[in-house]
Amino acid sequence: MIEAIRKRRSVRAFLKKAVEEEKLKEILRSAMFAPTSWGTKAWEFIIVKEPDTKKMLSEATAHAHFVKDAPLVIVICYNNKVGRRFREDSSICAEHIHLEAVNQGLASCFVQVADAGDPPGSAEPRIKELLGIPEGFRVQCMMPIGYAKRELKEHRDSEFDNSKIRKNSELKNPNHERHLKIPERAVG
Ligand SMILES: Cc1cc2nc3c(=O)[nH]c(=O)nc-3n(C[C@H](O)[C@H](O)[C@H](O)COP(=O)(O)O)c2cc1C
Repeated sequence: MIEAIRKRRSVRAFLKKAVEEEKLKEILRSAMFAPTSWGTKAWEFIIVKEPDTKKMLSEATAHAHFVKDAPLVIVICYNNKVGRRFREDSSICAEHIHLEAVNQGLASCFVQVADAGDPPGSAEPRIKELLGIPEGFRVQCMMPIGYAKRELKEHRDSEFDNSKIRKNSELKNPNHERHLKIPERAVG
């Protein structure tokens, strides 16, 4: 497991090589094994392969331009009438998709849709209209999937940061010198 987690990087350049149907099926299987609040499994998945549609998806936000270059895109939709934890359920499912893609020798990237776009919030209605996603559904993100054009460096042990780990007894002691690192801009 840690091997796939180390290898998982946000890949934004893909080969023009199709993704095998069996691999896509395994990725979707992993998505449907994701935990969901109250076990509602309220997500639904739209698989986009048509170049014109991918191009329009890639224009929905300033950070999605590479989406058109992936052989397929999984748009994660969420039926808000069925589930109540749209962001959490969708994001956890997206991570399952990302990790299983790596496990299948493929690559992906979490591409934000909800609250994104210019003006902010414009990407989601744009994508819903483009794909004919009905009222009551939300779209948190889309996951382009394909073979990486270049291998990116794996995550390294040096990224492990001991200073991020606190014992609760430290935090409860008001005289303790060490405090949670809160960025300046978050104060006041
Ligand atoms: C909630 C969330 C939203 C993200 N949105 C985008 C996005 O819209 N476009 C993009 O290229 N990357 C996006 N990313 C990927 C991050 O930029 C990436 O995970 C981060 O830079 C760390 O790199 P790594 O994934 O290779 O470890 C998103 C990641 C998360 C978790």
